[in-house]
Amino acid sequence: MPASPPRETLRAHGQEQVLRFWDELDEEARAALVADLEAVDFDQLAELRGGDRSEKVDASKAVPPAGLVTTPRTDEQRDEWARARTTGEELLAGGKVGVVLVAGGQGTRLGYDAPKGTFPVGPLSGASLYEVFAKQLLARSRRAGRSVPWFVMTSHATHAPTVAFFEEHGHFGLDPADVHFFQQGTMPACDAETGDLLLAEKHRLATSPDGHGGVLTALERAGLLSLCRDRGIERLFYHQVDNPLCRVCDPLFLGLHALRDSELSTKVVPKRSPEEKMGVVVDVDGVTRIIEYSDLPDDVARRTNEAGELDVRAGNIAVHVFDVAFVERLLEGGGASLPFHVANKKVPHLGESGNPVEPETPNAHKYERFVFDALPHARNALVLEIDRRDEFAPVKNALGSDSPATSLVASTARSRDWIVAAGASVPDNVPIEIDPLFALDADDVAEKVASGTTFDGPVLLTE
Ligand code: UTP
Repeated sequence: MPASPPRETLRAHGQEQVLRFWDELDEEARAALVADLEAVDFDQLAELRGGDRSEKVDASKAVPPAGLVTTPRTDEQRDEWARARTTGEELLAGGKVGVVLVAGGQGTRLGYDAPKGTFPVGPLSGASLYEVFAKQLLARSRRAGRSVPWFVMTSHATHAPTVAFFEEHGHFGLDPADVHFFQQGTMPACDAETGDLLLAEKHRLATSPDGHGGVLTALERAGLLSLCRDRGIERLFYHQVDNPLCRVCDPLFLGLHALRDSELSTKVVPKRSPEEKMGVVVDVDGVTRIIEYSDLPDDVARRTNEAGELDVRAGNIAVHVFDVAFVERLLEGGGASLPFHVANKKVPHLGESGNPVEPETPNAHKYERFVFDALPHARNALVLEIDRRDEFAPVKNALGSDSPATSLVASTARSRDWIVAAGASVPDNVPIEIDPLFALDADDVAEKVASGTTFDGPVLLTE
């Protein structure tokens, strides 16, 4: 049957202009455009046109989160951390944990022409971000004595090349049955002035991934929450694709989350300065939430505590543990509990006459959900402050801060720290890399590298 566009709906929403090349399209192209249009929720879009519906909070009331846990200073706290590590290991060994990686972003700031997860970060091996995480998972699975399932979220743009990359690399030693790829949803881009849907091609809407917050509905749609339920997986360790220092499945974090009965936990690092462009975890009126740096009033960002530290300093590094039951509860209302945020972006599209338009300034609205908007809904939200040097060096920008260069320096510095802590020495200014299958932390290095060992050149510690 020939494809037929939803003309009534388009008319009702003043969007008939998307059919302006209809007569030029062959049957296949028409079917593609109809499929794109059928995926659009026009009522939702009309509502979003009414403006950003994300909840506005009074950021001037922001205080440090009540659930903030910092490095233990007392015996009692040290004891809790030790118990937490054991609990985390037991959760892994009991098959209670799955890992969610969000890798659907477009990575526009890095300007790399492939999914960001394929970006090389190994100082000597050139291992990709995906490889670094996969090997950590493999190492954790070996220790746990059972595999930890990995749920890798891709998007329309990153899906095929990501799957191909994993296949090319033999899933980095993981059992392919343990790696579940699933695609997030998309949202159409609209002209910022008129609200018109934009065309990427004569037969395709301009769309973009629906934000990392799309992960919750995408997990459900892909049947992965049911899989968790069937397999007895109770907790999901969540991380992003851009931080090679992320401690995947950190038993301490998993264990504290469980011991403190948290539904959604967040790792944070102390912000370096009031100006650092990082969202912060705060309490406002007793509710734990994340406030974006741009929404934090200057005086709050600069306020210091008695110790002279920034008061509101819990910088979100987007590493979380979710209770599966919490995710299910959030989704009961159709996922509507996570609002869409509107961003003004440059979106290339076709002009009136089919000519390609490459805007130089933001011309369109994109709609994204943020995963951290789940936080205010969580009971006992644990916030764990960790050492940035040990766990956070993202690859975001092509140059400058949070770039491949700064991440490489941080990764080498951390490897050096671990080697020096083991009582070994290594010359300055040489590349150093520790394969996750060799060691996952400083304690592992200390077990394997004899104190007094001297390395005299580049160091690559592998299995
Ligand atoms: P960022 O916010 O850094 O966005 O994503 P990005 O798309 O990777 O990069 P820019 O802003 O275009 O330069 C943080 C994490 O969330 C994932 C990304 O893949 C990254 O792991 N993400 C982001 C998604 O999975 N889907 C999205 O729609 C957006």
